[in-house]
Amino acid sequence: MRVLGIETSCDETAIAIYDSEQGLLAHSLHSQIKLHAEYGGVVPELASRDHIRTALPLLRQVMTAAGVTARDIDGVAYTAGPGLVGALLVGATIGSALGYGWGVPTIGIHHMEAHLLAPMLETEHPSYPFLALLVSGGHTLLVAVQDIGSYKLLGESLDDAAGEAFDKTAKMLELPYPGGPAIEILAKNGNPARFHFPRPMCDRPDLNFSFSGLKTAAMNALKNNPAETLAQLRADIAVAFQTAVVDTLTIKCQRALEQTGLTQLVVAGGVGANKALRQRLQQMAEDRCGRAYFPRPEYCTDNAAMVAYAGHQRLSRGQHENLTITVRPRWSLEEIN
Ligand code: KG4
Ligand code: ZN
Repeated sequence: MRVLGIETSCDETAIAIYDSEQGLLAHSLHSQIKLHAEYGGVVPELASRDHIRTALPLLRQVMTAAGVTARDIDGVAYTAGPGLVGALLVGATIGSALGYGWGVPTIGIHHMEAHLLAPMLETEHPSYPFLALLVSGGHTLLVAVQDIGSYKLLGESLDDAAGEAFDKTAKMLELPYPGGPAIEILAKNGNPARFHFPRPMCDRPDLNFSFSGLKTAAMNALKNNPAETLAQLRADIAVAFQTAVVDTLTIKCQRALEQTGLTQLVVAGGVGANKALRQRLQQMAEDRCGRAYFPRPEYCTDNAAMVAYAGHQRLSRGQHENLTITVRPRWSLEEIN
C-alpha cells in the first residue's frame, strides 16, 4: 500500500509518500520560518495562505522524486489536528479532494500520534508497548503506548510546553525563532556552573510538567547579573535553561518508566532534536537496562513522513473518513483510542 501524507498543522508545509514494502519513497518540506520571523511567532492567517501557495507544487515535486503517478497512490493521510484551524483546513481540503478525485480512501491523522510513531520509520525501532515523551512547541506529554491507537496520558505540561519555553526564553535572549536550535548552539559557549535554575515540579510524585517559571528565572538572571560581556551572560543563561529542561524531562521520564514497568522510551517532537536531551535520556534508559529511541532530527520536527506512516497504519486497519472534511484544532490524544 502506498500512502500520500500531508502535514500543514502549523508553519511547515510537508508532503511524503510511504510504501508498506519499500518504506519512505520521498518527502519534502517547505518551512515558513522566514515568513513569520519578523513577527516573532507564527501568524495564523499568513500560515494558511502560504500552505495554499506551496502545497500543490510540493506535491508534484514529491511525486516526481518518488517516481509515482496518481494511479500508484492507494490512500491519502492528512493532519486533522491539533493545530491552527486555517492551516489544518488547507491540508484536509487538499487531501480530501485528492482522495475523492483519485478514488482512494482518506484518513485524518492526530498530529501527536504521528510524532510518537515517527521512530517507527527508522530501521531500528521499538516494539509495543513503550513510553513516549512528546516534546514540541505546543505539547509536552508523557504517554504509555500499548499499541497503535491505545494511548494512556500519564502527564502533561500545566502551562508552557517545553518547546514554547525554549522559544520564549530565546526571544528574551534576542535569539531568532524557533528558539530551541538557537539556544542549543548558544549553550555550547556557556558556563554550566554559573547559574542553577529550578527543576519545576520534580518534588511532586505526579508526572506533570510546568515550564513557565524557567522563563522568569532566565529573565531575573538577565536583569540582575553583571556581564563582562552580554554574549557570555546570554550563553551562561542558555546553558542553565537547557540543563534545567533536560534534567526535568529526564527525572519525569525515569519516574514514568519506574511507575509503568516499561523499558523502552520513545522521544519525539521538535525538542527531541536537542542533543543534550538525547544523550541524557539514552544514558538514563541504558542505566535502567532499557533503551531510548529517537527519530532522526528531521523526523523530530514537523514533517509529512510521520503522517504518511500513521496514515498507512490506520488505512491498513480499514479505517477511513467519509466525505465530510473535519479538522480539530484542539484534540486530546486519548480521544482517538
Ligand atoms: O514538533 P515541532 O516541529 O512543531 C510542533 O508541533 O510544535 O516542534 C517545534 C518546537 C519549537 O518550539 C522549537 O524551538 C523546538 O521544537 N526545537 C528545539 C530544537 N529544535 C526544535 N528545542 C530544543 N532544541 C532543539 N534542537
Ligand atoms: Zn509537531
